[in-house]
Amino acid sequence: MNVLIYDNEEQIGIAAGNYMCGQVLAKPDSVLGLATGSTPLKPYNHMIKLYKNGSVDFSRVTTFNLDEYCNLDINDANSYHRFMYDNLFSHINIPEENINFLNGNAQNLEQECRDYEAKIKKAGGIDIQLLGIGSNGHIAFNEPSDSFQRWSHVVALKESTIKDNSRFFKSVDEVPTHAITMGIGSIMQAKRILIIALGKNKAKAIKQLIDGHVTPQCPASVLQFHTDVTLMLDRDAASLL
Ligand code: PGA
Repeated sequence: MNVLIYDNEEQIGIAAGNYMCGQVLAKPDSVLGLATGSTPLKPYNHMIKLYKNGSVDFSRVTTFNLDEYCNLDINDANSYHRFMYDNLFSHINIPEENINFLNGNAQNLEQECRDYEAKIKKAGGIDIQLLGIGSNGHIAFNEPSDSFQRWSHVVALKESTIKDNSRFFKSVDEVPTHAITMGIGSIMQAKRILIIALGKNKAKAIKQLIDGHVTPQCPASVLQFHTDVTLMLDRDAASLL
């Protein structure tokens, strides 16, 4: 793994934004796998900046987002759909029809998962997958468990994830209990992976991802088996290495 350690979040924003845009400059019809949360905010800001100053064009790009809450309106301030429009899509030129999300309100969630996998395949697979990591080692909403779930699926969120994510909601009771997420196999099929971690609360998961046993109890540890992973860490997230 290519482990890069930076002094602060600003630098990571520039480095990660450049990395994602570099992919698009090398292959204008790239398929990008995108993530939500606090971690990608600065990288998305930098991607917007590069688009606005004419350095990169997203008009042929296709995107697939990692996950979405179930039973939350897509216009809700906390939906990942809304997050992506507010923080990236409304500011760059990816055609609407090239933007893909799992629908957490689908009538038949299992069919939705199958359709999403088929769409990724039809698009030619994901060229680069951007990932954050949960303090419990989750990637997307693949929570610690006894086995790896291969493809997109519905998941009951762990208490620790509900607690971590409650900072965005009025109260912990408002955090959805279920989500729909790409699986470990879906993520592992991406040609390249960029994972970013900020802050001390990610240090243990990062240590396990890099040095620990590969185990579904730390879903991110499976990335040890991927051949093209870059980690961008701040000093706090790297503090146990
Ligand atoms: P965060 O979430 O970026 O808000 O820390 C990351 C994740 O849970 O994957």
